[in-house]
Amino acid sequence: MTAIDAFPVTTPTETAPDPTTRPAGRTAHARPVRHREAPERPGRLAVARAQVAARYGVSRRRADAAAPQVAATVAAAADLPRSVLDVQLAHRSVRRFLPRPLAPSVLPTLVAAAQSAPTSSNLQLWSVVAITDPARLARVAKLSGEQDHVRCAPLLLVWVADVARVRTLAARRGRSVPATGYLETTVAAFLDAALAAQNAVVAAESLGLGTVYLGGVRDAPEALAAELRLPRGAAPVVGLVVGHPDPGCPGRVKPRLPQAAVLHHETYDVNRQLRPVAAYERRMAEFYRDEGLEGGWVARAVTRLRGNGSLRGREHLRSALAALGLPSW
Ligand SMILES: Cc1cc2nc3c(=O)[nH]c(=O)nc-3n(C[C@H](O)[C@H](O)[C@H](O)COP(=O)(O)O)c2cc1C
Repeated sequence: MTAIDAFPVTTPTETAPDPTTRPAGRTAHARPVRHREAPERPGRLAVARAQVAARYGVSRRRADAAAPQVAATVAAAADLPRSVLDVQLAHRSVRRFLPRPLAPSVLPTLVAAAQSAPTSSNLQLWSVVAITDPARLARVAKLSGEQDHVRCAPLLLVWVADVARVRTLAARRGRSVPATGYLETTVAAFLDAALAAQNAVVAAESLGLGTVYLGGVRDAPEALAAELRLPRGAAPVVGLVVGHPDPGCPGRVKPRLPQAAVLHHETYDVNRQLRPVAAYERRMAEFYRDEGLEGGWVARAVTRLRGNGSLRGREHLRSALAALGLPSW
């Protein structure tokens, strides 16, 4: 049971249990989920409403309309025993999910977390497309590397670099924004989208959900943009599969490089990296062996970046972006 099930979202005016927290269909996991009553915490709910109201710049009365069910989820999540650091250090990508839909509160909560990320000059140059339709998921999976977990995902979020919105708004004022064609603006939009997506990852994991990114949305960005009907000036950055992790495949925390390889004090020192990387290589060869995979980290990195199609079409990103209205001069 994930945290979001343990604390079904109920508000003083909304006491019926959320039907989608029950398992879907007759699956191996289709047994009734026992809900604990959401604790009565009017004080905490009021605080959460104030937080949501501040995020969207509305009165507390309008918090639930601005971001439905988010305040109740935030209030319930306050009882979870894990700190933000716990959640971050325990991160692992999840590629096996239970065939269960997500509670309706999940999407607005993840989007509220995403919108809480910093954004370059407050330009908010991103959008997100939420996909749950199995037929569309299948088409997106086909366009992005045919990964099984995309096809059966309860939710796929496609994070989009979006200068279309500001261009439209400028045009309505009779203005133009030629700087939206610069590489700097494209980079800012990609950064904004990535920061938003990662906030959503931490939020999802804090609720006991699992996620995995999908870089494959950049394999064929023009076809994907057409599938999602993105306007000119919008391009897919990364996908994010979200679901209830299959407890039968918990996955392991994947070790990262030693800090000595990535952290430099005052100035960059390339030579100091070699020894810690060698130690990491030994650790990762063992990690991959335990996963039934051959080779170490360096060989994988080199293979991935060897060129000659190793990026599965993403080597053409520059021209694809130009075709999508992000010339990135
Ligand atoms: C931008 C980005 C794109 C990714 N694309 C994929 C993907 O297409 N398929 C996949 O299975 N994992 C993908 N991942 C997940 C990485 O493989 C994973 O984060 C990495 O191996 C480290 O493992 P961990 O997340 O379990 O710590 C992606 C991660 C990032 C940050």
